[in-house]
Amino acid sequence: MTEKNNPWWQSATIYQIYIRSFQDSNGDGIGDLAGILHRLDYLHALGVDALWITPFYPSPMADFGYDVSDYCDVDPRFGSLADFDRLRDGLHQRGMKLLIDLVPNHTSNQHPWFQEAISSKQSPKRDWYIWHDPAPDGGVPNNWWSLSGGPAWQFDPASQQYYMHSFLAEQPDLNWRNPAVRVALYQVMRFWLDRGVDGFRVDVIGALMKDPDFQDDPINEDYKDSDPDFLRLKAVNSSNRPEVMEVIAEMRAVLSNYAGDRVLIGELYQPVEKLIFYYGTRLEGVHLPFNFNLMWLEWKAWGVMKLIELYERHLPEGAWPSWVLSNHDQPRVATRLGPAQARLAMMLMLTLRGTPTLYQGDELGLENAMIPADEIQDPFAKAGKGQGRDGERTPMPWDGSAYSGFSTHIPWLRLGDDAALKHVEAQKEDAHSMLALTRALLKLRKQEQALSLGAWSPLYADDHILSYERVLGCKRFAILLNFTGETVLAEPPPYPAIMILSSYLDHTEKAFDISDHVILRPNEGCLFQAL
Ligand code: NOJ
Repeated sequence: MTEKNNPWWQSATIYQIYIRSFQDSNGDGIGDLAGILHRLDYLHALGVDALWITPFYPSPMADFGYDVSDYCDVDPRFGSLADFDRLRDGLHQRGMKLLIDLVPNHTSNQHPWFQEAISSKQSPKRDWYIWHDPAPDGGVPNNWWSLSGGPAWQFDPASQQYYMHSFLAEQPDLNWRNPAVRVALYQVMRFWLDRGVDGFRVDVIGALMKDPDFQDDPINEDYKDSDPDFLRLKAVNSSNRPEVMEVIAEMRAVLSNYAGDRVLIGELYQPVEKLIFYYGTRLEGVHLPFNFNLMWLEWKAWGVMKLIELYERHLPEGAWPSWVLSNHDQPRVATRLGPAQARLAMMLMLTLRGTPTLYQGDELGLENAMIPADEIQDPFAKAGKGQGRDGERTPMPWDGSAYSGFSTHIPWLRLGDDAALKHVEAQKEDAHSMLALTRALLKLRKQEQALSLGAWSPLYADDHILSYERVLGCKRFAILLNFTGETVLAEPPPYPAIMILSSYLDHTEKAFDISDHVILRPNEGCLFQAL
């Protein structure tokens, strides 16, 4: 077998932990760091290699931790720095990695930096944030729109100026054109790197730079009524400025002073053609720009093939792909595609070339919960329309006990309706469960480097089937995925092969010749190894 010496994050599977909802250890109904530590054996046995933990820093929780009031500590709700160290050690002892969320675009309005900045126009920290005089009519300086709804400007009566916020007014944007801000945030990165983190997932990394002339964002002609408000405009001036590459390269430089291939991941909602820009022309950008495109496209075999081919074709030489099916901001994959296709999607993501990021609970096939209006927690839902993001943030169901083993106390957000049926203990007992499938796929991906690091090439796609292969050295695997609810007669792999895994978790070890046909059952995915 050919051994490849790639950085660890290329063959790794990342698991996203939404800390509030993973495991509560102290009976306050909110997940915490010690809770994660308690579940490390589960995660290790699942077969994931790295955890990305959403923000655990001190915060007034206006946006559940994405409003940081101290970048270098742990909020008491989530534990302490000592808990963090224990978690880091627990991971490293198991050969796993720890990734944390860096939120550099904005702070909380309670952060001492902002408190100082708003205290007076003459404050030395004033220019750490983005201020602007009112428009001549006294209104907002321009049309920039916040991603949580409403104008991206908040008036400060004391100084008669507006400050900018890409999200809630409680999350003022930092001014990344100010070198002092950069120095301060790179210091924050070093604080955590020195403490042993293996990398960062950087929140809204593409938004760090804004147009220095504060030009309006142009109208988005493709806006649909079902889209969120902020999509009425194309955010080309309030965000997504090419100059952002300058700071991303600086962040990379901070990481490169540390041993161990520390990784920089960017949260970027971009189509593939734009996403690749963030790798940098000389790969000085993010190592992995999160690729969310599987979440948006019409779920058709040929459509997914087009996306994979486009990505593989556009990737700069030496750049590494990323694949994500869901996260704490988007409806869960099993809700978008249905439970049967969610299994297929898992097989797809875990057999593609690139680093997969799995969202907690997707390995159980959890679906979005409907949260009654009077229980809604998400501030974006309160500020905008609809359910917001609570549906995908419900607590992890671990067992059949009260509150599904997540907590001994009523949880901060209700458990999903499917918790009682889909909890971990129930799925461990079921040889055909989504959990069993995820484990089987992760085990194979670990055993066979061809499935993680091997080359990807298309076999075929039509209205029903997507088929591709993964090759490394003399190892060759073919994957056939049925995107429909019908039984389909499919072309076999173009070489004699043995079927080693079906998403139904049965019928394995069957040999196929090139003259045979493969019958794929509804929503079935099959993995073949060339003989
Ligand atoms: C993206 C995060 O994933 C989301 O949860 C948060 O509300 C915004 N960035 C603002 O930080």
